[in-house]
Amino acid sequence: MSSPLHKTLQPLFLGRQSYPLHSTLQKTNIYFGSKHKLFHQCAYNLSAIRKSRAAVYEKPGPPNEVLKIADISLSDDIPEGMALIRMMASPVNPSDLNQIEGLYPVKGQFSNRELVYIEEGADSQTPKNVSVAIGGNEGVGEILKVGETTEDSKNFEVGAWVLPNQSGKIGTWCTHAIVPTNDLVAVPNCNGVTPEQVSTIKVNPSTAYRMLKDFVDLSPGDYVIQNGANSGVGRAVIQLCREWGINTINIIRDRDNFDELSEELKSLGATMVIKDTDLKSSDVSVTLNNLEQPIKLGLNCVGGKQTLAMTKFLSRHGILVTYGGMSRQPVTLPTSFLIFKDIQAKGFWMTRWYKSHSEQERLEMWDHLLSLMRQGKLVSQPMTQINWSENGTPSELAEKLALGTGWGSKHMFVF
Ligand SMILES: NC(=O)c1ccc[n+]([C@@H]2O[C@H](COP(=O)([O-])OP(=O)(O)OC[C@H]3O[C@@H](n4cnc5c(N)ncnc54)[C@H](OP(=O)(O)O)[C@@H]3O)[C@@H](O)[C@H]2O)c1
Repeated sequence: MSSPLHKTLQPLFLGRQSYPLHSTLQKTNIYFGSKHKLFHQCAYNLSAIRKSRAAVYEKPGPPNEVLKIADISLSDDIPEGMALIRMMASPVNPSDLNQIEGLYPVKGQFSNRELVYIEEGADSQTPKNVSVAIGGNEGVGEILKVGETTEDSKNFEVGAWVLPNQSGKIGTWCTHAIVPTNDLVAVPNCNGVTPEQVSTIKVNPSTAYRMLKDFVDLSPGDYVIQNGANSGVGRAVIQLCREWGINTINIIRDRDNFDELSEELKSLGATMVIKDTDLKSSDVSVTLNNLEQPIKLGLNCVGGKQTLAMTKFLSRHGILVTYGGMSRQPVTLPTSFLIFKDIQAKGFWMTRWYKSHSEQERLEMWDHLLSLMRQGKLVSQPMTQINWSENGTPSELAEKLALGTGWGSKHMFVF
């Protein structure tokens, strides 16, 4: 069959290997199965997609020092078992920044890529071969084109929305990528949800969901206590608990607009919002020690003294689950908590859960979360969107990148 997509053999740099390219004659049902898909494909003018604008780094270090914007060359042929995706939205998570710093257990994937750095005063537009990793681990992309599928590779329809299968395999802060289809998973049903909503589903809402489901049996009316309650995970915990009839005690750091933030969290379903500085007050002690139902679960985003102060309110046999270490302080608990109250301290890592559970299980969880999003019962945390425009001077682009990858408020790249 002759196809307009057919191209001659060219070298393609992906990872450390140079793949010999095969013909891109595609399966009829992928490219020509419906008018819609053909139109869709033409709308993106695939032959014009020869590069991906990406945030890359050559070695780990502080994000504001090591990240640069580059145009990475893309082949116009897609090898067997690979797909060309267009990224739509990708959040910046604390773990992404830790990964760039080299402080996260999942390291960036460095590989040789043909690229041109976009920087002020760059004198050459000739691509050079550089070993870089692309930042970002989470995000949603759309399939634009699929290579020949093999027995071992997955097949996707053009137009399908996809997420990375595992952290660390695909850098998501880029406009396009050619990636193994086995590193992708299709979003179960993207009707009625936006790319921005879907792009965050794999980490924060899923973490909240698993921590509420997998450690203790929570009955309606039971309590969960958590710190970092205004975080992405914390807000998902509040909303899932509201949906399941569970009460939440939410600890946040004191701030000028405490009342405003407290009201915002209550509007999501928070039962109580408490300042970290009030945790030792007698009023709070009296209230939390006299609840009608037990505080069975503590969720720790922070570590240090704030965690100790929170854990003392856990009921006998309660479980403290640590999932974040924002204060960079260790979790220390008095011996008496362990001996006399039988408190158990555990950890949770979403990456480990994905590795040890089937794709079916994650799809069931995402289906549930997406359905809550569709009904407006699970709203995303406020994030500043940074439009990754192709236009802009090199210094404007560098400014956007620095803004998006700074610590503090939460950002999302949209492409
Ligand atoms: N284990 C897992 O699988 C998993 C999954 C998802 C996330 N996480 C971790 O969970 C944490 C939160 O992630 P996120 O995306 O939800 O973050 P986020 O939305 O950026 O929220 C960060 C939270 O941390 C608080 N915080 C920041 N610095 C702090 C400090 N020095 N002391 C006390 N609190 C501090 C912030 O409070 P303020 O508003 O007061 O600054 C905010 O509540 C991160 O550590 C992340 O790596 C882990």
